[in-house]
Amino acid sequence: MMIDFKGGNMGDLSQRAIKSFAEHTYGTWRARKGWKEPLFIKDAEGVYFYDEKENRYLDFSSQLMCSNLGHKNKAIIESIVKQAENMPYIAPGFVQESAINAVESLLTVMPLGLDKFFFSTSGTEANEAALKMLREYMSPNYKVISRYHSYHGSTPGSISFTGDVRRMYAERARCTVEGIIFAPDSYCYRCPFGLKYSSCDMQCAAYIDYMIKEEGNVAAVIVEPVVGTNGRIVPAPEYFPMIRKICDENNVLLFADEVMSGWYRTGPAFAMENWNVIPDILTTAKGCTGAYTPVGITVTTGKIADFFEENIMCHGHTYSFHPLALSAIQPAISEYKKLMDSGLPQKISKYIENKLYWLENHHECIGDVRGIGHFWAIEIVRNRETREPFNKKTDKFQKVLMTQKVSAAAMKLGLFINAWDDTLVISPPLIITEEQVDEGIEILDKVLQIADEEVVHTNIAGSRTTAEFNK
Ligand SMILES: Cc1ncc(COP(=O)(O)O)c(C=O)c1O
Repeated sequence: MMIDFKGGNMGDLSQRAIKSFAEHTYGTWRARKGWKEPLFIKDAEGVYFYDEKENRYLDFSSQLMCSNLGHKNKAIIESIVKQAENMPYIAPGFVQESAINAVESLLTVMPLGLDKFFFSTSGTEANEAALKMLREYMSPNYKVISRYHSYHGSTPGSISFTGDVRRMYAERARCTVEGIIFAPDSYCYRCPFGLKYSSCDMQCAAYIDYMIKEEGNVAAVIVEPVVGTNGRIVPAPEYFPMIRKICDENNVLLFADEVMSGWYRTGPAFAMENWNVIPDILTTAKGCTGAYTPVGITVTTGKIADFFEENIMCHGHTYSFHPLALSAIQPAISEYKKLMDSGLPQKISKYIENKLYWLENHHECIGDVRGIGHFWAIEIVRNRETREPFNKKTDKFQKVLMTQKVSAAAMKLGLFINAWDDTLVISPPLIITEEQVDEGIEILDKVLQIADEEVVHTNIAGSRTTAEFNK
């Protein structure tokens, strides 16, 4: 029986249908007991989405940091509809209009020299393809250096070079590949070397040089240029120019995963442009279509492509170069360019920054505010002086984190905000206005009190006391 969800408030029947849906499906990244009654979303427009009771939610994280152009963009929808009418699918061995348009428009935004594309349907797949390509190209060198604060995807290759806790679950399931090693992060708030910028001599970059030389068979260094889910960590200005030099001197590829940091989220089209560094391989997904269709893109230099003139790029899917999926790329790029030309995102990113620093001054639970463009983190701590976190890395999936308590309370007040480990993800669509930012900040101001109440102080003798924080 089909149920009409379009009417007013949903009756018992549709509530039962939602329960039945959950009963018959696996939710992502969760035990099934946490997948009983997912919230039914009825509509989404601009920076808002709506549930069946007409409750409105301000989307402060662009869903999964992907709906960069907001919801219901007309130009993108029209292009998808046209493609659906003309040719929703044709095998990847053929070429058709939306693929040609996608490549032509990508060439106008890609960093110089990155001009050979492979299309899949997710960031995970884009990274999996890149791993296979770089290992073939660099053979017999095969090791990949990644960093602990990272997420690169859910399949065996991409989860293997993921640093966050999700890799541990894949390891338990024996679904990982060999040859991945982890470097310390460029994370000044919690420097793994216990040093302070700038007297640190950039040990986080220098140590990668040491790793490459000691290992002797490293093929690539993979980085999220601005770490996404795992903290919106923006490295010091010297970091990426140093990493580029280290890779060149050691004949190692630099692989930038711009799945989340790409598509104007940090200001320029790609985050690496903030440091004028061009990687050898770049992957992206999410924002490349504004999340209207699923696309993953692996792009390489001509030098890597030359290797595959004679060597087989032994990779592909039924849905590689999917016509309907690719039909969203060209209009999305055109919408991004219009938006950037309007100056709105540039103005609002400064506004967001100021508002977040204002929050930091008003909430003692905020240990660090960091970010760039429309890509910000509020890192909450139990103790500001010692930077003691509320939760440890392995708490994820095991207990309700403090950031999850805060984001659940925000949702009740109409603000959708992702939480990961100890950070809240502030990454609204690039179309957000000042008034809408104010609306979100006002709610955050209220719900951060939940964490404020559990803040502790260190007294002069070094022992902890409960916080008495006066606003
Ligand atoms: C940096 C990064 N790489 C890869 C991925 C995986 O992309 P997808 O979820 O589209 O497979 C993500 C997803 O969040 C990501 O943030």
